Amino acid sequence: MHSTRSREKIAIFYFSGTGNTWWMSEELSRQFDQLGHQSQTYSIETVPEGKATAVIDDVDIVGFGYPIHGSDVAKPMESFINNLPQVSGKKAFVFCTQWLWSGDGAQVGGTMLHEKGFNVQWGEHFLMPNNVTVSIISLPYTNDHNRLAGVLDRARKRAVSFCRAISAGRVFLRGFSQVAFYLGCMQRLPFRKVFHKLKNDIGIDRDNCIDCGECVRLCPVGNFFYQDQVIHTKGECIICLRCYNFCPVAAITHMGRPHLHERGEPYRGPVKDFDPGLLTGK
Ligand SMILES: Cc1cc2nc3c(=O)[nH]c(=O)nc-3n(C[C@H](O)[C@H](O)[C@H](O)COP(=O)(O)O)c2cc1C
Repeated sequence: MHSTRSREKIAIFYFSGTGNTWWMSEELSRQFDQLGHQSQTYSIETVPEGKATAVIDDVDIVGFGYPIHGSDVAKPMESFINNLPQVSGKKAFVFCTQWLWSGDGAQVGGTMLHEKGFNVQWGEHFLMPNNVTVSIISLPYTNDHNRLAGVLDRARKRAVSFCRAISAGRVFLRGFSQVAFYLGCMQRLPFRKVFHKLKNDIGIDRDNCIDCGECVRLCPVGNFFYQDQVIHTKGECIICLRCYNFCPVAAITHMGRPHLHERGEPYRGPVKDFDPGLLTGK
């Protein structure tokens, strides 16, 4: 049994590289609506400057979701939180999506939000499909939606209990502890050390590139640009792997290597025919 308090207004801000965090944000929103609340999701790539503050002022509870990158908050969400004005005790929840493990993946964003004045009462980690499909690290992944169904079902169940805790006003902070913090640091600190070196790792395989502009359209940080009708990179990659996974001809390289054809097409999101354009509004 869970008790539902009064109808709350809830806003969920998310960053998603390849669709998993989008999927979870929509799932949480559906659950909140079923529990009688009024919720709305916002891709941080489409929220105009200033609108986020107005939304936060207007709602009772604010959620923040991001994919884990090396036990750390994905960069666009880090910048989004850093740019928010200070608030005074606004109730908040934070969640991360991850393939396997992050230690304190939600806590690290929760700490940033706490410093901004949010009253972070809920935190959760959701296991989702792996989106790391680069050739240099041969991690298992699949685009087979029958196989993904089980992963998504388990994530959905966790989302149901998370939303019930929030709805009931019951504090729930999974992985918010000193031990989780130290475990997260084991991955986060080395990742932070090399992060700036990774900015140039994404390139273009000229032999295969058809200059269709999909990477220009989809990159969340504008790392691609046209010059003389040919696409170039600026060296500002944040390694979300959206361009790498969604390039229609797999012409994006990572550390000079294109995707291995033997591994099938790269991960293309949690639902069939997922269009990452909905994350950017372009
Ligand atoms: C650069 C990078 C680093 C990642 N690091 C981790 C990690 O430390 N632990 C983990 O379980 N998953 C890790 N992942 C996997 C993603 O967090 C996971 O697939 C996530 O759900 C992707 O969400 P998105 O589709 O919204 O971008 C990493 C992915 C990328 C691209």
